[in-house]
Amino acid sequence: MTAPLTSRFPYAKGSDGTRRLGYGADYNPEQWSREVWADDIRLMREAGVNVVSLAIFSWARLQPTADTWDFGWLDEIMDLLHAGGIGVDLATATASPPPWLTTAHPEILPVTARGETLWPGARQHWRPTSPVFREHALNLVRRLASRYADHPALVAWHVNNELGCHNVYDYSDDAACTFRAWLRRRYTTLDALNNAWGTAFWSQRYSDWEQLLPPRLAASHPNPTQQLDFKRFSSDALKDHLLAEREILRELSPDTPVTTNFMVMPGTKGMDYADWADEVDFVANDHYVTPGPQDRDELSFSANLSSGIAGHRPWFLMEHSTSAVNWQPVNPPKAPGELARDSLLHVAHGADAVCFFQWRQSAAGAEKYHSAMVPHAGADSELFRSVVELGRTLDALAPIAGSEREPARVAILFDWDSWWAGEQDSHPTSRLDYHREALDWYSALLRLGHRADVVPAHRTDLSAYDVVIAPVLHVVPQPLAKELTRYVECGGHLVTTYFSAIVDENDHVWLGGYPGALRDVLGIRIEEFGPLLDGDTVDLDNGTSGSLWTDRISVTGTDVEVLAGYRTGTYASRPAVTRRGTGRGSATYVSTRLGADGLTVLLPELLAPAGVTSELPEHARGLVEHVVRRDAEHRYLFLVNRSDEQVALPGLTGDVLVAPRTEGDGLVLAPRQVAVLRQSAS
Ligand code: GLA
Ligand code: GLA
Repeated sequence: MTAPLTSRFPYAKGSDGTRRLGYGADYNPEQWSREVWADDIRLMREAGVNVVSLAIFSWARLQPTADTWDFGWLDEIMDLLHAGGIGVDLATATASPPPWLTTAHPEILPVTARGETLWPGARQHWRPTSPVFREHALNLVRRLASRYADHPALVAWHVNNELGCHNVYDYSDDAACTFRAWLRRRYTTLDALNNAWGTAFWSQRYSDWEQLLPPRLAASHPNPTQQLDFKRFSSDALKDHLLAEREILRELSPDTPVTTNFMVMPGTKGMDYADWADEVDFVANDHYVTPGPQDRDELSFSANLSSGIAGHRPWFLMEHSTSAVNWQPVNPPKAPGELARDSLLHVAHGADAVCFFQWRQSAAGAEKYHSAMVPHAGADSELFRSVVELGRTLDALAPIAGSEREPARVAILFDWDSWWAGEQDSHPTSRLDYHREALDWYSALLRLGHRADVVPAHRTDLSAYDVVIAPVLHVVPQPLAKELTRYVECGGHLVTTYFSAIVDENDHVWLGGYPGALRDVLGIRIEEFGPLLDGDTVDLDNGTSGSLWTDRISVTGTDVEVLAGYRTGTYASRPAVTRRGTGRGSATYVSTRLGADGLTVLLPELLAPAGVTSELPEHARGLVEHVVRRDAEHRYLFLVNRSDEQVALPGLTGDVLVAPRTEGDGLVLAPRQVAVLRQSAS
């Protein structure tokens, strides 16, 4: 990492004073009577809960009208939690403005690109750039911070909630005004802006800053750089809200760490969390499984990237689900063992706290069918018994608290600019899925039993890795091109794909043949892209097949070998996968979408020159994911059975912290079971 992150992780302490992993949930006591509160504390203790997030959606309860405040109930529950030995991650309660505020000030409501107002009635109906909203929100933060800064239950501040979950893109007049100021800071002069936005095209030249607008609904494709800048601005506008709240918290409550919950998930692309990570005292993430063939891989990918964003320091899993969610088209429950396995996979990737949405399943409201730690059925339920058991497991894992993820030898670069720019409209194909391509590479590595780190492209010391995979790294500014080139020249093995290194930071094409920014290091030149129609595939001569994209590659460099060629399609008999050797290093280009299956075939050939081999026995590869955490004295080996089969792992040494069945000097993992072994670091 370039800049070290401060890590002020709010560890719970055991009775012996040692650190414990966090365990808990969002707790919404305002939905329940006081009798239920007492039951809640009792059950939390039974489950080993040591932290809850409180008051996330409590604004209307805390400030019932513009001039009245009601903190009595919060005082009471904070005291009860403290008496029960449970720490509080106290929300600033600004996520959802109350009806009196939106009625008095409808000008805080977000506006879509089509000019429609997003009305109150759900949540997060506020403009990130509204000065009126900001004033009211900060007033609330100030009240809460002054009142609870010294409360003994307080362990962390939780700014807002999932910033940008529903309101990342706001096209209102407030947004327009703040966007103009942002553009002035970025470009200083209108000439620079006109240049960056390429406004010579379609008569878009601006002669006054006041003419600039968000990319509202237009007659045809809005200017691509305007769109990209608006995405950058929208992420920054939310970050600015985070900073505004954080400053008050730091002023009034300097001893308590501040966080906000990120959403590192495929569907949440609006917030550049790599850019936000330095602004929080510890990184927190929310994750929900999207059911599908790669769901296990995606969970691991998200946890892995959260760790990358956190600079491989411990991070806080603020929310996931004990079982079903309520917001997908169909919401199946988790299978037995999945609650624990999903939780422990996050822990394997560096989470030092495991929390859920939410503690007690709501009886009313939009999320009443979303699972919780205490389900509708009550504590006499399989689910609650699993929750209690997980609490015990996390307690047994206390020795790992504070350890960091051990770096892998392979990295996958993840880049928000490329995600944003690569998927914009009016491109060679509208079918490109940036996250999916990155996930496919990760899936293939998992199947082959390799560890990899998923890391932010602009915050990573590439030299730490033997192999760097940069899928669809579309935006490559000059400094990054230089860094990648230097990496290869110094002996690194770079792998990149179709539609990578095509544009600079202004979304201007690097000219002279694609992929302009990395043409020389790859030793290839492409004159024209060959995207494929839906359903069309091409065969490669290594037995794989490609979809989505092909390229008409000419080999220009010396020392370029063709690892696979097209057998069918327009470019039959031309190269599909090339590798340029540079002495110790290499630069590989994959010109089509091979998917996880094809990449599983190709990857061994790409990893071999770097000498990267799997640490798992052959029969366990793909079935078991292994992740390592370490501290000064120990390595903690996590073995996670991803499959529904029993897997035997012979020849393992170390103390068993979380124990499956043993067999001689080995372990037998039941379906979905997890083992954690402690080994000496030396
Ligand atoms: C998000 C929110 C929670 C809840 C969950 C449901 O993570 O932060 O309030 O809505 O989703 O999955
Ligand atoms: C129309 C327009 C051109 C250009 C092409 C692109 O013909 O007149 O300006 O946009 O479409 O196909």
